[in-house]
Order: sequence, then structure tokens, then C-alpha cells
Amino acid sequence: MTAGIDDISIYIPRLFISASDFAYARGLDIQKLENGLGISKMAMVDTNQDPACLAANACLKIMQKNNLSPKDIGRLYIATESSFDESKAMNSYVIGMLEQVYGNESFEHCGGIECKFACVSGSYALYDNSNWIRAGEAEGKYALVVVSDIAKYDLRSSGEVTQGAGAIAMLLNDQPRLLQFDPKVTSTSIKNEYDFYRPFGKETPIVHGQYSNLLYLIQVKKALSTYKKKVFANGLIKLKHDETILDYIDYLNMHLPYSNMGKKALAYLLRHEWRNLSRWTNIIKKIKMQEPTPQNVKGTIESVLADSDFMKNDHIFTKLFVNTREFQDVYESKLASSLIASKIIGNLYTASLYLGFRSSLEFEFQKGVDLADKRIGFGSYGSGSSAMIFSGVIQPEYKQIVKDMNLEMEIGKRKKLSLEEYEEIHENKRNVDENILDSKKEFILIDVKTKNENHGKRTYKFNE
Ligand code: COA
Repeated sequence: MTAGIDDISIYIPRLFISASDFAYARGLDIQKLENGLGISKMAMVDTNQDPACLAANACLKIMQKNNLSPKDIGRLYIATESSFDESKAMNSYVIGMLEQVYGNESFEHCGGIECKFACVSGSYALYDNSNWIRAGEAEGKYALVVVSDIAKYDLRSSGEVTQGAGAIAMLLNDQPRLLQFDPKVTSTSIKNEYDFYRPFGKETPIVHGQYSNLLYLIQVKKALSTYKKKVFANGLIKLKHDETILDYIDYLNMHLPYSNMGKKALAYLLRHEWRNLSRWTNIIKKIKMQEPTPQNVKGTIESVLADSDFMKNDHIFTKLFVNTREFQDVYESKLASSLIASKIIGNLYTASLYLGFRSSLEFEFQKGVDLADKRIGFGSYGSGSSAMIFSGVIQPEYKQIVKDMNLEMEIGKRKKLSLEEYEEIHENKRNVDENILDSKKEFILIDVKTKNENHGKRTYKFNE
């Protein structure tokens, strides 16, 4: 049996901080944000929004758009790394909110859990729910998989420039109009690591940024190597002489903690995939530099990062490589459109890969490309750490979904925060009801109890 994404919806909070204001306040060169990292705006939550609100708003949108009632939904999963309870799952809050609109106990028949593995958990949730559908357990119902996060780093930390907030809801079924997953190719890698983690009670993560960047690349490459074995074994793709698997992936979506990370990942994967092909010989000739290798053969991430000569030369080599026409052709045709939304929204942790997918659909469609039958590759990464590679094919009915996509219209009129307002919200100096924006037809948080017997209990309301 088949399974895939039938429709996708997005909810992005309308507050944002601009990269230029931010760079000025922190004494950073704006070029580092705009060109180095690829960030121009970062979406921020208001005082009356939390990740459950964002998720519920994305769910409501997709249900209303498709005229679904709760009885059409069999599972509601939430993947997040912005959890605010160690026991009560975020989907229970979301169901509570949706029942304010659809009626008490209207989701009673539904199942689901909150999933955690940093930014990769949404991909595991998609995979597990696809298998629920493939196993014939869905009885004609949809699975609703929501990825929702508030990417929040310490003030003045190096991660502060890679923040953002938002949720994406994906409706899965056995006859998807948008994307059908390729069967039996989903591939993972996993390793106990401390590149990024958020201990109990801490609102912001402990991050080793450069370590995390490199680990992401290595883990994704490992998962890709398993993906290739599976794809060749089941005959999904057959390579001819001097070809690579990436020649058969029409569009690539990568996990995007910031938009330029997608470009970095593409460069890394292409270097490994092209190294033994004839096109690499031409590239090396053009670049006029041999590909550097680390001095220390131990090969640990620490030893690679500590090898300053290698890091410097590898950086130079990568820059030369990404400027070649060969790289630029692949970048423009397979990846560039997926990076546009991230630039104006920022980091969405679990949702950032799917924001990229959503972005690619909208902006490729706008170019007039017929997306039917195109194969989409997904490179998912979660710190801690695990990577997942999987793929799917755009379905003939995709236009029904993609034709109305309009990111700017869907976000609505945005309001720029002053640095003072941003820091007040960031440091939780404003009460829940000291919100900046008025909201309409949205779920909002109205209270979080602080007294012993009901400490942490949250109340939400649907603002008509
Ligand atoms: N003008 C133009 N580009 C500039 C610049 C300037 N003045 N200054 C720096 N840059 C470029 C750098 O060359 C680099 O680009 P490159 O990697 O293509 O060479 C980019 O901007 C980032 O600079 P860098 O010095 O690496 O920034 P940093 O030390 O502040 O760290 C992160 C960047 C992403 C590691 C950091 O923001 C972070 O820790 N983020 C959170 C964790 C994270 O996102 N991990 C990713 C894996 S999930």
C-alpha cells in the first residue's frame, strides 16, 4: 500500500526581528547574517503564543481548507523540541484547542503522541504514520503530523542569529494528491552526541555550533550511503556509468537551521558523490587546487575542527567549488527555491525541513515548472544525533495543492519588533496578556498557572 503527503499547511507568527536591526544591536556585520548565514528576518512568538498554539493554528488551517471533521482524522502526532511538559504530550493540548472549535470529545477516537529527537523527530513521525497507513490500519482516515517549534537561543550567544518560530501540519493518506513516499528506502544513522541539547528546566540549548554543523554533514552522508544501497537493491533507481544518485533526485530539501546550511550540505554531499566521477577531474582542473585532507587520520570531529590548516584550506576549496558552473547548475535547479522561505522566517527546528519543501513547491511552481513526477529527496538531521534520508514523487494532482500557495499572504501583515520588545519577550519579562498583536480566528494562550496544585496548567482560547 502507498502513503504520502496529501496537503500541507503553515502557521508563522507575525512578529519578526530584522537581521539589520539585530546586526546593528549586536555589533555584527550585516553581511554575515544576510550573505554568510542567509538570514533577513526571524519570526518571533508573541507573549500569548506557545508551540502548542502554533501547532493548533496549523491544524485548524489544514482541516478547514480540506473541509475535514475530526472523524476524518485517525492520528494526530506532534514532533517538537520546544516541549513544555515532561509528561503531558503536546498533541493533547492541541486536541483540547481544536475541540473548542469542533466540539467536546470530537477527537476522542484519535490516537497520537509527542515525538522528540531534536530537529529530525518530524521525519520519524512522518515515517511511522506512513507505515500505519501502509499497514492498512487507517480505515480511510488521515494521519495529521505536525512539526512545531520555537527556536530560541541565549541572548548574545552565537546561535541567537539562528532563531525563528512556526508550525507546519501535514495530512497523510494512502492516495496523496501532493507527494507519494518511495517505499522501502527511508534510511537513518544514529550516534550518541552532545552537539546541541537542552537539559530539563532550561529554556535554551547548550550548543557547540561548528561541531554541530560538521556532525550534521557527516550523519546525513552516512544516511545517504544506506539510502543508496536500499534504492539500488530494490531497483528504484539504476545508475549508468559515471552517474550519481543525486542525478536522479530532481529536488533536494535539507534541514535548515539557517538557509545557507542547505547550500553547505549540498556542497558537502556533491563533493562526496562526484569525487570518483569524470566530472570531478574537470572541476579540479578548473579550481586549480587539490581537495584538502585532514592531517590527523584519527578522523574525530574534534581533531578535524582542531586542524586549522585543513579547516582553512577546506574552506577555500569549498568556496572555489561552489562558484563552479557545475555546482551552480545543481544548486539553482535542485535546491535554491527551498531556501527562500527560511531567509524571511528563520529557524523552525523540526519544521525547517518542511518549510524548505513548502518553499520549493511554491517558488518552483511560480517559475512555471511542471512538478508532476519529480522526485524529491529529503535530508533530515537532529542533534544528539540522528539523520534520515528519504524520498518521494510529486503526484499528478499536485496543482490542486500548490496553485494557491502564497507564503506572504498566508503569514499575513507582519510587525517588526524593536530590539527592546524582542529582548523583553525573549527574557519572559512580559505577562501572557501583554501581547503586542491582536489576533483573529486563532488560538492563543491566556493563562499558565503557577500555584502548587495546578502548576503549569495552560488555558487556551480561540479568538473569534
Ligand atoms: N561577511 C560575509 N560573510 C561572513 C562574514 C562577513 N562579515 N562573517 C562571517 N561570514 C560567513 C562565514 O564565512 C560563514 O560562512 P561559510 O560557512 O559559508 O564560510 C558564515 O558567515 C557563518 O560564520 P561563522 O564564523 O561560521 O559564524 P559563527 O561562528 O557565529 O557560527 C553557527 C555560526 C551557525 C555555527 C552559529 O550561529 C550557531 O551555533 N548556531 C546554532 C546551531 C546550529 O545552527 N547548528 C547547525 C546544525 S543543526
